[in-house]
Amino acid sequence: MKIINVVGARPNFMKMAPIIEELNRFPGRFRHMLVHTGQHYSESMSASFFRDLGMPLPDINLEVGSGTHAEQTARVMVEFEKVCLKEKPDLVIVVGDVNSTMACTITAKKLGIRVAHVEAGLRSRDMAMPEEINRLCTDVLCDLLFTTDHFANENLAAEGIAPEKVHFVGNVMIDTLLKHRELAAGLGIVEKFGLKKKGYAAVTLHRPSNVDDPQVLGGILEALSEIARDVPVVFAMHPRTRKMVGEFGLGHLLNTGATPGGVWAVEPLGYLEFLCLNMHARMVVTDSGGLQEETTVLGVPCITVRQNTERPITCEVGSNLLAGSAKERILECGRDIIHGRVASGSVPEKWDGAAARRIVEVLLAEAPSAQRG
Ligand code: UD1
Repeated sequence: MKIINVVGARPNFMKMAPIIEELNRFPGRFRHMLVHTGQHYSESMSASFFRDLGMPLPDINLEVGSGTHAEQTARVMVEFEKVCLKEKPDLVIVVGDVNSTMACTITAKKLGIRVAHVEAGLRSRDMAMPEEINRLCTDVLCDLLFTTDHFANENLAAEGIAPEKVHFVGNVMIDTLLKHRELAAGLGIVEKFGLKKKGYAAVTLHRPSNVDDPQVLGGILEALSEIARDVPVVFAMHPRTRKMVGEFGLGHLLNTGATPGGVWAVEPLGYLEFLCLNMHARMVVTDSGGLQEETTVLGVPCITVRQNTERPITCEVGSNLLAGSAKERILECGRDIIHGRVASGSVPEKWDGAAARRIVEVLLAEAPSAQRG
């Protein structure tokens, strides 16, 4: 079976790494190549992840870069179509919910190529979120849908997806976390930053709904400043967020110096460094999807700065607090955590480090009959 694996943006890399590793165990059954769309391209958003995760470098980089949604999606489609026409894969594997995920799915399907979606079935029911549109378009087209939890299975069933296409395999992002946990723990980033274990809040924010509106972003930064009176706050700042803080003149709410204090803005960290920061944090404040899952497994209380989540399992098992974006509610959640008023969580079914193995088992069963669909 000839497979094209697709990655595009930061959260894709740690999902694809264990799949590639597992495919490599069966060289007689799979030939596979890695296509990077180039949606993310900075050292800190892309290259550092390949190094940290020991991933093979992409065979092809489409170098699409940033742009409006239509520009970025269209560029991926035009360039990926050329690759598919030349390489004629039996299967394309896409992960997550970024623009590259949807663009490559549409392109491959229109060429009659089968597509597998890893992390299928997640739904926020929020159509203002570009990722929700990407998820819906991807799942309706895919031939194989690999899911992480029971909510995803139920969502796909409710949308009329044939049950034989859906495989509940667990969470590949957690495969990567468990593999690197020990290595990350020894990195000493906490000491390097002059912080104390379990004595700080780690923050990431990048969703347009939070960072593209001056009122919303200002309110969140004020809440973080309040939290910083109790515990130092380390904000690993996404390029989009940094740009908006500058445009809105909110820089006075940040500490951009070399040492912690207040809301301390640092560059986005690599995978291993952030994992180290995350596992030793007193709390994480984020609007990322992946971090809601990672904190769940690490047992770190998480405040999710969103009105909804496509990952309700992380709230169901108890470690994730869905706070919305309003200052007072974020603060209330922060205080609850500081005063120990949070339920201890548990780990969802099949988030056990073996999700990629289960995916490849399904592909092995498919391999003899792989046809262009
Ligand atoms: C994208 C994904 C989002 C994911 C996030 C993780 C979509 C619709 N969005 O959002 O789902 O959670 O990645 O980071 O696919 N930039 C750089 N260097 C880079 C990439 C981007 O400086 O390597 C800057 C550019 O100014 C760019 C901005 O960040 O305009 C936003 O990047 P973009 O890829 O459009 O969206 P993200 O916010 O990163």
